[in-house]
Amino acid sequence: MNQYYNKIDLNLSDLDIDRIKGDPWEFYGHTFLQYVIKDTNYLNDLIKDRIQFGIEPQAVFYTEIIDTGVMIPHVDLATAVLNYYIESGDAITVFWEIVGQAQTRPLSSNRNGTVEHQGTMEFDIKDLRFAEKMCAQDHEAYLLNTGRPHSINKKPSKPNRKMIRWLWHDVAYEDVLASIHIPAGRPR
Ligand SMILES: [Fe+2]
Repeated sequence: MNQYYNKIDLNLSDLDIDRIKGDPWEFYGHTFLQYVIKDTNYLNDLIKDRIQFGIEPQAVFYTEIIDTGVMIPHVDLATAVLNYYIESGDAITVFWEIVGQAQTRPLSSNRNGTVEHQGTMEFDIKDLRFAEKMCAQDHEAYLLNTGRPHSINKKPSKPNRKMIRWLWHDVAYEDVLASIHIPAGRPR
């Protein structure tokens, strides 16, 4: 097991975004746009034979990321996030290890955001060292350890990222990973 991220064998390429993208929920700066799921029954029905969550996620959103994404190393309030990348934008997610006594502060981009991105704390790069990186393809899913410092590097020229995100708070990443079940004989 990788302690920063793990690929999850999930394909939802037959999904209909128009049935998923609901009302705006949270905008963070101009780059991070999070929407409620419009038709929860449709999404639950779509995934039920493909993935099962032993520990129920606290939230699920449809999210679009414009321009670069969050390039500042940070930790999120969520301890684990399952991202299903409808469009990955070829973005690279970098995970960092803390060196010594790192100072943290609320993510600075909050100042421009319309809504506080609660619990998101940013780091100084000098307090970190590179640990791991990953780059998802379209229609791939990854469970990310968002309680570890991470940053996103996306070229603005690449397509906007479009994702479904299942979030867990206060559950250890390892426990969420262990609880995810991919049924045999699932639709591909
Ligand atoms: Fe994050």
